[in-house]
Amino acid sequence: MTTSNAPSIKLSTKPLFSSDEIAARIETLSAQIDKDYRGREILMIAVLKGSFLFVADLIRAVKTPAVIDFVRLASYGSATQSSGIIEVRKDLEMSIKDKHVLVVEDIVDSGLTLESLRSMLLNRQPASLKICTLIDKQAHRVTDVPVDYIGFSMDDGFIVGYGLDLDERYRDLPDIRVVENV
Ligand code: IMP
Ligand code: MG
Repeated sequence: MTTSNAPSIKLSTKPLFSSDEIAARIETLSAQIDKDYRGREILMIAVLKGSFLFVADLIRAVKTPAVIDFVRLASYGSATQSSGIIEVRKDLEMSIKDKHVLVVEDIVDSGLTLESLRSMLLNRQPASLKICTLIDKQAHRVTDVPVDYIGFSMDDGFIVGYGLDLDERYRDLPDIRVVENV
């Protein structure tokens, strides 16, 4: 059912990042990850829901043994802007103590979501903690949270597709598109 009063959303006709570009970038990233984690087991922590497709592709691309767990965070704010107030909606099920943790995020924008997740995870004493994001939006960063692996960087604009949503819609698109009227 469509909501009668929902604004009509206009997406770019051309993808910002095509499926082929995403797949190629994941190959490169996973080669780097394999090099860095040689001889170890990775515990990937996917931040739901936005990273579900990215982590599914990434975990299959890396050759290093990997296990996975999920965390769901809610950040208060508008549909397009983070407030920095984070609530853990679904916590991890696994212990991360002494594990080599790789957080897999969809987008780092202000960095507030990741900053608060990072300190929560560090309190649980992992052997190491690195962060991988599909999209890095440097221009809006208000924290100096370290990001170790970056899929793509972009400046401005709101994007959807390949797991990324606008009010829960468009996660199912196979590529990434810009919302032209937000
Ligand atoms: P931050 O706390 O400002 O870094 O917000 C990061 C979160 O905001 C991401 O994990 C996304 O869920 C969401 N977000 C930020 N920019 C976009 C976008 O362009 N499209 C979809 N979600 C976004
Ligand atoms: Mg998110």
